[in-house]
Formats: sequence, C-alpha cells, structure tokens
Amino acid sequence: MVQTHTSIPVAERINRFTYAIRNIVAEAQKVEAAGTTVRYLNIGDPVAFGFKTPPHLVAAVERAMRDGHNGYGPSAGIASAREAVAAEYTTRGFPVTSDRVFITAGTSEGIDLALSALADPGSDVLVPMPIYPLYTAVLAKLGARALFYRTDPSRGWMPDLDDLRRLVTPSTRALVVIDPNNPTGATYPTSVRRALLDFADANGLPILADEVYGDLGYDGPVAPLGSLDPDAPIISFSSLSKAYLAPGWRTGWMGVGRSPRLDEVVKAIRKLADGRLCSTVPMQYAATAALTGDRSHQIAFRAALKARAAITHASLTAMPGVTCVAPNGAFYAMPKVALPPGRTDEDYVLALLRATGVLCVYGSGFGLPAADGFLRVVFLAPPDELAEIYGLMAEFTRGYLAA
Ligand SMILES: Cc1ncc(COP(=O)(O)O)c(C=O)c1O
Repeated sequence: MVQTHTSIPVAERINRFTYAIRNIVAEAQKVEAAGTTVRYLNIGDPVAFGFKTPPHLVAAVERAMRDGHNGYGPSAGIASAREAVAAEYTTRGFPVTSDRVFITAGTSEGIDLALSALADPGSDVLVPMPIYPLYTAVLAKLGARALFYRTDPSRGWMPDLDDLRRLVTPSTRALVVIDPNNPTGATYPTSVRRALLDFADANGLPILADEVYGDLGYDGPVAPLGSLDPDAPIISFSSLSKAYLAPGWRTGWMGVGRSPRLDEVVKAIRKLADGRLCSTVPMQYAATAALTGDRSHQIAFRAALKARAAITHASLTAMPGVTCVAPNGAFYAMPKVALPPGRTDEDYVLALLRATGVLCVYGSGFGLPAADGFLRVVFLAPPDELAEIYGLMAEFTRGYLAA
C-alpha cells in the first residue's frame, strides 16, 4: 500500500466556489468568542427572527408522517403538490401543466437541476450583478461561466439592457432573472420585464425566473414573469422558504412553461430528478397545503416587511456617506458606503462586525467591485432592534469615514 503524508487533493472547481453569506460566519464566531453579541443580519431566514411557520403547514407534515408517507416518493414530486403548483401558476396567468412541475429541495435544487439541464462546461449563463451567489456556485460546479449583467443602483437597481446585449455570446444558454430581487430588494416594472422578455426572445434564450420572493412585494404578490408571455420559454422557481416561512424544510418547486421549445429540457430535468430519487416527502404535503389553503399570514408578513424596509431606508440614508435604494419587496437592502480610497467593502464589514457585532455581507460577496462600498442588510429583526442596530451602524460609520 502506498502511504504518503500529503493531503488528499480536492477538485480544482472548489477554487471557483465561494459563498460569502455563510463564509463570513466564521469571522462572526471569533467576535462572539471574544465576548461581543453578534447580530446576524447575513442570512435571509425569517424563522430565525421569530416569524412562525403557519400551523396548518406543520400539521400537514405531521399528518403525512403519521399516515406513513415516509418512503421514497415519485422523483418529480407527489401528484397533489404538482397539481397545486400547476394550478397556482395557471391562476396567476402563467399556464403550467402538472407534468411540467417538479417538487425540489428548495428553489436551490430547482436552479441546480435547471442549470445542469441547460449548461455544458464552457457554456455561458447571463446572471444579474449583484448576484445571489447560489448561481455562481452552481455554474462553477458545472464548469460553465456566469456572465454578469449590470443592474443599476442609480435607476433603482434595474437591469441594464445595453449591458445584456453586449454580453450575449453564441455559447449563452440562459438568462437568469431574479424578481423581486435578492440582494437589492428591487421589483421590476412591467416595462422592464417586457424588455427582458424581448431580449431573451431576440436571442433565443430560455429564462430562469427566480420568483422565490414573488409573494413578498410590499404592495401584494408580484405576477409571475410568465404571465406576460405564456408562450415564452420560461422556467419559474419558488419554495416554502420565504413566503411560507419554512426554509429548513428544503421544499420548493419549478414550473416549466408550455413552450414546446422546452420539451427536451423537461425530459432532461426529469432524468436528473430521477438520479436524486425525490425531495423530502412529508414536506411535499405542506406544499399542497400551502398552495391550496389559508395564506392570511402573508398579509401580516408583507406589512411587517414594508414597515421594516421603511425604517431601514430612512435610517441608512440618514447616515452621512451612506446611500440606499428603497426596497420594494423581500427583506434585503443594499446600501453603499462612500469608502475612503484604498478601503474595500470587506474591510468596512469586518470593522463594523468587530466594533459593534453587527454582521452584514459585503457587496463583493455578490460580485460587485470591492471598492464600490456596497453591503447587504437583512432587515428581518423587530423594529426596535433594527433601530438599535442602525444606531450602532451610524455611530461606527461616522468614525470610520472620518478616520
Ligand atoms: C434569490 C434567491 N434564490 C434562491 C434562494 C434559495 O431559496 P430556497 O431556500 O428555496 O432554496 C434564495 C435564498 O435566500 C434567494 O434569495
């Protein structure tokens, strides 16, 4: 037997893979070990901030377990959940049939399956910048390339269509649209959505529509992108994680539009879904319950988010040297700090963490230039705690920018 003392080599693709939202936690734990209370504003988990999973969803999971639904299920998902998802999309103006629905381990697995079905090593996929880092992580795993299209803070974080047109190549396989958006909190008006559909159509591209925050527009649910053009090749993704307050259940869905151009993609996704057997079965019963039952918790949740967004925007824009676009949906804001020359967004975020215990994620973790000074704030904490946090941030930032 050959014995050496060198460490076992890991795959080269690992070097192309970072996940700032979780990576930064190691730094926070050091601060905590040194005795400072850390306020974790890095992860978008409403349950961690006291929002409760609706009891009828918990009951649906309990019942499913007691009824013995503890074996493997169909790889595309149980029929009742797929039918509920299809009905949901169809009612909202995006006609989807249940044989084109897949129940997945969160939006995340849906995105992974769809990108795996579409992109070869060397393919390009258009993703917004700033980007939710799951996309770059999956593309790195596939050996495909993320082409970042700019979204513009001076225009409310709207996608830059000129940038999109410049970036597209013969190897481009898909356009990713995240609306409502993480990390910016933007929602796109119909004119922008139509421009994105026209761009995709002109270039023959399918659209991966990440609509996980679709129910969390502050003024009510946002219609699926597919409702603007039901015949466009669109795949929509969502889950129980955000609007149904159950991120730990890892349960979501994907609806593939009726365009025949997507028929082969559906077959490819089905093959890949077979390979991972199925998503968690008892939780799929909660997906059915969520989409066919009472949603009144969403009214209260949207109102809470709207109030917290207003506090966040007012507090951040009151800080000298800080600007911020007002969010319109979800629970994120992306302020910009006018950094002194030579400093990076990560320098600021780490200094803020060490001085105050407030943990945000630096903008470069979402693909933005480090010198631009962006950071992402998750504003799920209760209003009084947010006021305290922004007080700490204001005082720290005043000193940081004066130094
Ligand atoms: C834009 C976006 N897409 C996907 C996800 C992943 O969600 P899920 O828990 O449904 O996998 C998130 C989670 O924060 C997100 O913000």
